[in-house]
Amino acid sequence: MFPLAKMQDYTQNYIRAGGARAFSEYYVAEYDGAQFRRSLLENVVFAQHNLVQDSAFNEFHLIVCRNVMIYFDRILQDRVHGLFYESLVTFGVLGLGAKESIHFSPHEDSYEELDPNERLYKKVA
Ligand SMILES: C[S@@+](CC[C@H](N)C(=O)[O-])C[C@H]1O[C@@H](n2cnc3c(N)ncnc32)[C@H](O)[C@@H]1O
Repeated sequence: MFPLAKMQDYTQNYIRAGGARAFSEYYVAEYDGAQFRRSLLENVVFAQHNLVQDSAFNEFHLIVCRNVMIYFDRILQDRVHGLFYESLVTFGVLGLGAKESIHFSPHEDSYEELDPNERLYKKVA
């Protein structure tokens, strides 16, 4: 369930991202919440991935990994940045947590900063 009060913002985001249909087709409003249609789950794969042990397993256009790497030491952070780099397509986007950054990682020069506040980076090389 998502708060109904947020749905106006989400609708604008959907339109800005190129959404062509009415965003309201994707959810049912109930009381003060919006429940997205279960049919959307047919397009979602849920999988567990251990950042410490597992290797890259797919190519992604977007990776969001927030507030995890702050708990890792430098060696492990570098490993995870390597995983993200291998797993992103060129021009794919990486989202990190508010206290995390691509700066000083081995792949710093391969990303362009999209939004410093939101910690969004685009893989460019
Ligand atoms: C502080 S929470 C952050 C949760 C969420 N991303 C957020 O920003 O609210 C840290 C998350 O990292 C996950 N985590 C810890 N070690 C991990 C590992 N080795 N591989 C993958 N995820 C891990 C935990 O399960 C937990 O969900």
